[in-house]
Amino acid sequence: MDLQQYLSEADSLERDGSAALQSAADADTLEAARIAYLGDRQGRVKALQEALRGVAKEDKPAAGKRFNEVRTRLEALHADRKQSLDRALPTGDGEDLTLPARRQWRGAKHPVTLVIEEIEAIFRELGFTIALGPEAETEWYNFGALNFPPNHPALDAHDTLYLETGGLLRTHTSPVQVRTLQKYAPPVRVLIPGNVYRRDFFDASHAPAFAQIEGLCIDEGISFVDLKATLNRFAERFFGASRTRFRPSFFPFTEPSAEMDVQCGICGGSGCAACKGTGWIEILGSGMVHPNVLTAAGIDSERYTGWAFGMGPARIAISRYGIPDIRILYDSDVRFLEQIAE
Ligand code: PHE
Repeated sequence: MDLQQYLSEADSLERDGSAALQSAADADTLEAARIAYLGDRQGRVKALQEALRGVAKEDKPAAGKRFNEVRTRLEALHADRKQSLDRALPTGDGEDLTLPARRQWRGAKHPVTLVIEEIEAIFRELGFTIALGPEAETEWYNFGALNFPPNHPALDAHDTLYLETGGLLRTHTSPVQVRTLQKYAPPVRVLIPGNVYRRDFFDASHAPAFAQIEGLCIDEGISFVDLKATLNRFAERFFGASRTRFRPSFFPFTEPSAEMDVQCGICGGSGCAACKGTGWIEILGSGMVHPNVLTAAGIDSERYTGWAFGMGPARIAISRYGIPDIRILYDSDVRFLEQIAE
């Protein structure tokens, strides 16, 4: 066979083979084309290879080069076509089988819920039970029974959300102290989680609706020592071996009152962004329950004493998880929630 003949043979094989491989509409047709062209026994490529033997010695390099081109090209076309046929999905009965599968969602608890549950578990070990109260309150439970004087600024409409039907959205969980004491005689040890509402702007450290956890312990002979011991024990359990400090404060319903800070777990007390450089994180307000509150709840304040605290689990979640902005907790962005979900 002379070179000219060989090359035209190669051209027609390339043309026919490409057409057959590229037009194969299904796997069977493609396989038949593969056998016809690339098959080891009777494939036309094989035949062209064998025809090389009949080519004159000096023409062999040119013929061999062309042969290799044709074989490589047809093999590549076959691989391409096979891949696209494999990828194509069968069409179902009126269903679009090319739609992506629906993702399986595993539910997860919100970071604030995780914090609340952990705090509840710690206080349960200390003998506390859980109590709940209404979010729509009366002025008396929210303020009056808690010894707020009638001119206290918290009563102002700028601070409290009043309802048109009378009453208000509770500004703290403390009214449930009174509700609990009206229902149960001391000794009382309760933990009261719940949502509270204030006319606050939504900013990096405030939300107009947020969770609180109230604690209340009333019995004979309860003193500030019990308050400190219990809250220190809680801080130790929740924050690890953190140090705490108590700062004098004021609430109408406790006397004396104190705010408790926990040494910042992120910087270890040296000062960082999370603790605003102070080394301490403000965790809760607390104090000895004011005798007027006990009296309002119908409890003999000569016989019984006790303490209470209120804390914000969102603030605690922020410092625990190093969250830079409290609003992230309310965005419901699953990309954030997934990072903390257990
Ligand atoms: N109710 C107070 C607040 O919302 C917190 C608190 C509760 C303080 C109980 C003392 C005792 O800020």
